[in-house]
Amino acid sequence: MILFDEKINVFHLFNEKISYLIQIEDFGYVNHLYFGKKIKGYSNLHRYRRIDRAFSPNPSEATDRTFSLDTMLMEYPSHGNGDFREPAIQLQFKDGSTICDFRYQDYRIFDGKKALPGLPATYANEAQAETLELILVDEVAKLRLVLSYTIFKELAVLTRSARLENQGTQTVAIQRLASSNLDFYARELEVIDLHGAWGHERQIGRQAITQGIRIFDSKRGASSHMQNPFVALVEPTTTEFHGEAFGCCLVYSGNFEAVVQQDQYQQTRLIMGINSFQFNWQLQPNMSFTTPEAVFVYSDQGLNQLSATYHDLFNQHLVRGKYQGKERPTLINNWEATYFDFNEEKLMQIVDEAEKLGIEMFVLDDGWFGKRDDDYSSLGDWFEYREKLNGRLQNIVEKVHAKGMKFGLWVEPEMISEDSELFRAHPDWAFQVPNRPRSTSRSQYVLDFSREDVREKIYQQLTAILDHTDIDYIKWDMNRNMTEVYSTQLPQEAQGEVAHRYILGLYDLLEKLTTRYPDILFESCSGGGGRFDAGMLYYMPQTWTSDNTDALARLNIQYGTSLAYPISTMGSHVSAVPNHQTHRVTSLAIRGNVAMSGVLGYELDLTKLTAEEKISIQEQIVFYKQHRALFQFGRFIRLTSPFEKNSCAWMFISKDQKEAIAFYFRKYTQASFPLETLRLAGLDEEQIYELNGCEISGSEAMHLGLYIDENLTGDYATQMFYLKAK
Ligand code: DGJ
Repeated sequence: MILFDEKINVFHLFNEKISYLIQIEDFGYVNHLYFGKKIKGYSNLHRYRRIDRAFSPNPSEATDRTFSLDTMLMEYPSHGNGDFREPAIQLQFKDGSTICDFRYQDYRIFDGKKALPGLPATYANEAQAETLELILVDEVAKLRLVLSYTIFKELAVLTRSARLENQGTQTVAIQRLASSNLDFYARELEVIDLHGAWGHERQIGRQAITQGIRIFDSKRGASSHMQNPFVALVEPTTTEFHGEAFGCCLVYSGNFEAVVQQDQYQQTRLIMGINSFQFNWQLQPNMSFTTPEAVFVYSDQGLNQLSATYHDLFNQHLVRGKYQGKERPTLINNWEATYFDFNEEKLMQIVDEAEKLGIEMFVLDDGWFGKRDDDYSSLGDWFEYREKLNGRLQNIVEKVHAKGMKFGLWVEPEMISEDSELFRAHPDWAFQVPNRPRSTSRSQYVLDFSREDVREKIYQQLTAILDHTDIDYIKWDMNRNMTEVYSTQLPQEAQGEVAHRYILGLYDLLEKLTTRYPDILFESCSGGGGRFDAGMLYYMPQTWTSDNTDALARLNIQYGTSLAYPISTMGSHVSAVPNHQTHRVTSLAIRGNVAMSGVLGYELDLTKLTAEEKISIQEQIVFYKQHRALFQFGRFIRLTSPFEKNSCAWMFISKDQKEAIAFYFRKYTQASFPLETLRLAGLDEEQIYELNGCEISGSEAMHLGLYIDENLTGDYATQMFYLKAK
């Protein structure tokens, strides 16, 4: 899978699907040759052409004017000695200089994949992947740079990270250390991103790449609702089913940047990593710094193929623990049913109804701790609010368990309210710049999780609850972004480390908790999907996709989310109408079909349902449980995009192609409507399937398609198709 041809100094990383080619060039510069569909052998015809280009400098060793770092495709470029494009690495030395010059020294190839210290990352055993480490050195600064590339055997996946080691005697300031740089030879490309806002997460954007720079990033201290740490570069003709796509996803939950640049020769550069904005890490002698991992996926069959690979990779090589590959329970969450206004009696009424409907878990959301009756107090006081709960939480847990249901609990451990015992005892534990006021958001502050003592206190509080209460599930929330990011525990020159140290601290706490409670199912949340990223999925196999539970809005949100993230990771609930976020009224059928296209839950006051609604919900749950493995772990295929059309459709197909469920959704009705057909995908051409008592071949369902029911009327209409092999 990884070959080094010493005659031409080329590393070839390949499997049955992809190739990645690196060439060690003159003077030890490490050039990029190719990433894409598998190349069978490599001819060396693609060594970068020597052309004398105006205004592109030449290194001191160059014997003519045709070798310039400014024009070549580089693996890990720096700035200041020839390449004027965006650098992957920016350093500053004690003398104020910023030039670094890394040259190839050596390499290592080994089976499997190393873990990244303190960071989440995909994992693979020795039979599943092979890793190349390129060792580069800057002789002047005595720095060693290790570029790590892992290729997976069965998947079109290549992961990358970088490690900088200080072997000198001086501290070096790291201003940027990207996880990866990927240069493309001159070609027309477009960039796809996932942007949005609270309640409007992961909308798909697509635009042509032209000369200049486009940055997708977060400076919010979290990966954010506004931009997701995922981009894909595609050909202008790439669709869901055809064309090339190159995905890049960062396994990280904090400030990130994806920089896309096209240079003066139509070459495109993609840099992915921790956001360099105000990043400044003091790398002391004998210390090293490791970047998060960037995960590249290649597809030559459009975006659906790209997503299928990400889904397989994240399901099998990112998510960990007891729930990896395991079906996830249906749940009822009391948040939109009661908000803060509940007591034991009210909760138990909801639980009673949930049991009758066949729901498997009750989740007690915000408001059970400290003196929390609204969102102005008590974050940081992780002990039971006994007056409100009518005693110990364990009593309620036992009652829920007695009904054969699981019990889940909401927490928001990274935050602190001014009105809390913790804040009164430790006002200095929240981020604050000395002598300046703190900004509030949802009336709360952010705890300084770069500090071990702060994390330890929260850990003790959480373990005190979890050790003595039989909790089956935790919803880990985080309801604001970071301001006044400053740690009083760190010296002035290390303040540029705080945002990253916070994330490392968060990962450290999550590692401790998930290790101590291996049976608990964790779901992450940040005001809905404000931290829906691969970093959090390493610790918590599910994420609350969005606070917006409106079925129509969810079509776009879930469609966009599925570009990179598996269905098994998307919490998706049926809520009341009018919807609390959009005030739209939609049918229970469409709310059910959308929520079933994820990890199904309910989030409404079940005691207020009509008898008819109860029957429909009961049926939804029975159906979902019957097909849960297909929904959560089957292959998901997007058929019609809600970003482009008045309708949306997607389907789930079992890996053996024997069973499929397709959902069609129409947003708005139209007089004189066209008679629509839905063409399915991924079925076995030869196979005969049963559909509503009729028989249909896979080829007919895919090529002729299925009629959408002409009696489907009104706005927000939906239809489901269930196909089973005969
Ligand atoms: C934001 C979450 O996304 C909601 O589901 C809910 O848990 C609230 N926080 C509670 O404060």
